Amino acid sequence: MLCNTDKPRYCIIVLNLLLIQVNGIENYYHGFNIERFGGQNRMISFFDREHIAKLSSSKLEKDIYLRYLDYNKYNTLSLEQIMETFPNKGKDVNTCTQPQKKVVFLKVHKAGSTTVQNIFLRYGDTHGLNIALPKAYDMECFNYLGFQSILNHSRIMKLPKNKTIDIICNHAIYNKKVFTEFMGFDTTYIGILRDPVNQWSSATFFYGFIEYLRDLLGEHLEDRQLLSAVLEEPSIFHDCPHTHNSMFEDLGLSIKDSVNQSAVENYLRLLDNEISLVMIMEYFDESLILMKRLLCWDIKDIMYVPLNINSEKMKRKINLTDKDQHNLFKYNYADFRLYVHFKEKFFNRIKQSGNNFLAEVKYFQNARNSVTEYCKRCQSSNFSSCTDLKILSSEWSEQFIITGKDCRFMMTQEESLLVELMNKARQKYGITH
Ligand SMILES: *[C@@H]1O[C@H](CO)[C@@H](O)[C@H](O)[C@H]1NC(C)=O
Ligand SMILES: *[C@@H]1O[C@H](CO)[C@@H](O)[C@H](O)[C@H]1NC(C)=O
Ligand SMILES: *[C@@H]1O[C@H](CO)[C@@H](O)[C@H](O)[C@H]1NC(C)=O
Ligand SMILES: *[C@@H]1O[C@H](CO)[C@@H](O)[C@H](O)[C@H]1NC(C)=O
Ligand SMILES: *[C@@H]1O[C@H](CO)[C@@H](O)[C@H](O)[C@H]1NC(C)=O
Repeated sequence: MLCNTDKPRYCIIVLNLLLIQVNGIENYYHGFNIERFGGQNRMISFFDREHIAKLSSSKLEKDIYLRYLDYNKYNTLSLEQIMETFPNKGKDVNTCTQPQKKVVFLKVHKAGSTTVQNIFLRYGDTHGLNIALPKAYDMECFNYLGFQSILNHSRIMKLPKNKTIDIICNHAIYNKKVFTEFMGFDTTYIGILRDPVNQWSSATFFYGFIEYLRDLLGEHLEDRQLLSAVLEEPSIFHDCPHTHNSMFEDLGLSIKDSVNQSAVENYLRLLDNEISLVMIMEYFDESLILMKRLLCWDIKDIMYVPLNINSEKMKRKINLTDKDQHNLFKYNYADFRLYVHFKEKFFNRIKQSGNNFLAEVKYFQNARNSVTEYCKRCQSSNFSSCTDLKILSSEWSEQFIITGKDCRFMMTQEESLLVELMNKARQKYGITH
């Protein structure tokens, strides 16, 4: 799920040089110039100066921001209502014939991807597939198959010569060429994105950045005030993990290129081609049904139990002001661009899905509620003495059974699960080292 060791070590160094007065009087920052920008004196880093200058004159930027706000208005509408505003574009997009068993799931930090990863690990395990697993658990962030890098051979358990990898669903920075070397060409790529405002604030909490800010700026300040102050001068986020166009970074665009609009557009076109489905965390169940249809999997394959991972940290949600949000937009333009593009594509795809898509989502949610309730009961008896749960068939699914063992799998946290699967794989492949 997470790697706690990649705390913002660099942030400490940067922030120790920072003197900031929260109530908007003046900001001082070593290594940055004070420049006249947007009608006022601002601290602009060398790094950001060009970025802001370019973005602020860009029509595309303004268009993306408006589209982002438009889609946010949808938050209060049902999917049925949203679909009415999308044009109908012809025939059903879901035409799979055979279960797809060579799949890469691109994990994206703070975007709900741990739950999806659990689904992939379970699919791989129950179907006897070869999952790319970490080689050892005694290294930093062992669950990363590439730690802040592309796939790294030296972190991945080596399979016997006549075996090939079927599933990759652990963290590594995406790069099509490198993934193809591991997977071959007949592979489906799935990604996930989250509203960039939520992804960003989740990362600032999760990686401990907010605590550093509080130590520095004052105990009395609320989370929101701290983040507002920083968003006035987001360049101090340099080198803090997962706060600067982080979703794009996970998908393989360097931070340097993420502030270059033509690089962003070019890379977005590539991703649009290479990734078959980008899920949207805000529409999690709908995303899973799209995935099920794309991969020809069963309802049981995409079943999950919502786990409130880091529930304490998750609870600390804050509402950014419009000004904060706009500041964040300017700083993380590329991630907004990415999200808006794939959210639009996602809605279009639902619009083009036949076979009672929305009713299937409802069916899935009902089944998931039963499974969640059953699994929680089952958990209290240590998954051992629970009678199997039967989920009745529907027009989208055969009848299927959930066992205590399924529950245990769905309710086990990432790291423990990986260790179990690694031990199992060592036995299966006869790996002794
Ligand atoms: C790959 O992993 C090894 C061992 O953890 C590390 O020494 C090396 O620097 C990594 N390579 C890359 C490109 O990250
Ligand atoms: C694959 O290799 C293993 C040993 O490495 C061997 O036992 C097995 O028979 C081989 N399978 C095929 C299909 O060649
Ligand atoms: C921006 O990206 C384009 C297209 O990839 C590239 O040609 C150009 O050199 C980049 N500009 C800078 C300043 O890096
Ligand atoms: C954020 O806004 C939502 C909706 O307007 C509201 O329900 C929630 O209580 C707010 N949260 C905080 C921490 O202010
Ligand atoms: C729960 O079951 C597992 C094996 O399935 C066992 O290792 C563990 O000790 C049990 N825990 C409790 C509290 O009974």
